[in-house]
Amino acid sequence: MTTLLGTLSLYYSNLQVVQAEAQKTVDYQQVYNDIANLLDRDSDYDDGSYGPLFLRLAWHTSGTFSDKEKDGGSRFGTMRFDKEISRGSNLGLDIARDLLEKEVQAKHPGISTGDLYTLAGVVAVQELGGPDIPWRPGRVDGGQDKLVPDGRLPDADQGSAHVRDVFYRMKFDDEEIAALIGGHALGRCHLDRLGYDGPWTDARTVFDNSYYTTLLERTWVPKTVSSGKHQFESGTLMMLPAEIDMLKDAKFKKFYEVFAKDQDKFFKVFSKALVKLLENGVPFTGKEKVYVFKRVNE
Ligand code: HEM
Repeated sequence: MTTLLGTLSLYYSNLQVVQAEAQKTVDYQQVYNDIANLLDRDSDYDDGSYGPLFLRLAWHTSGTFSDKEKDGGSRFGTMRFDKEISRGSNLGLDIARDLLEKEVQAKHPGISTGDLYTLAGVVAVQELGGPDIPWRPGRVDGGQDKLVPDGRLPDADQGSAHVRDVFYRMKFDDEEIAALIGGHALGRCHLDRLGYDGPWTDARTVFDNSYYTTLLERTWVPKTVSSGKHQFESGTLMMLPAEIDMLKDAKFKKFYEVFAKDQDKFFKVFSKALVKLLENGVPFTGKEKVYVFKRVNE
């Protein structure tokens, strides 16, 4: 057993050296373009874009970071392992993993998994109309020994205190949390994944501040869906129990009101917070080139 572990750790340290070299040859703008061109390839998938799923992949890849434990996050690309991606909170993300592996990583073998998944989130936000998200490469694939315990991502059935616990663990403040949850302008909940059902906004493939306008302007009615999960609904739109509890929290609500009125302000805070989320736990030297990618869809 010791020998097997020793061999594995030698394998991964060699792999990391090879990967660090290979990364120097990757054309990241081309990777960006290839992901961008993949977004609306399958018009029958959901609302016609893989963008929302890619943003969720980037966030769940990074959102395991713990500032206290100094582990987790996107650094080692452990989301590629079945053991992590099949966890309850990650259901559905294997679709994004398989697509990115087949259509992008195969063409750009020098890119690490953590770099690929975080870059896919950047593409989603920028191509669907959101702010620039400056990004830098530098993550390297690690082994299964780098997996952190399950349970670090937020539980949608709980309230503001739990959400704060989760995000404070990653060193976010209330304004950053209020901005990050605005990512729910994109996409929808799937009954067959986590058991909740429906989209948050009317324009599921447009990144704007509509999460806040929708949340603040409508009346939300509790409903139990066929999976047995509780959620809140307003017409065809929905909110998670955690989100309605956050709406009742005066500190979060104050930021929601600002973001609903001022999209530029939302974009600024969101961009900074997302960069921080995607980079948490990655040991950057400060000398890396920072990319601000040119958009495919201007
Ligand atoms: C309190 C924090 C959060 C909770 C409880 C939460 C919960 C959820 C749940 C239950 C889903 C539905 C998954 C499915 O059925 O497919 C979802 C989807 C999604 N989440 Fe979150 N989330 C949180 C924070 C975030 C953050 C910080 C981001 C990004 C900045 C984000 C981006 C997304 C996106 C884009 C989707 C849609 C995915 C798709 O359409 O396939 N979420 N989230």
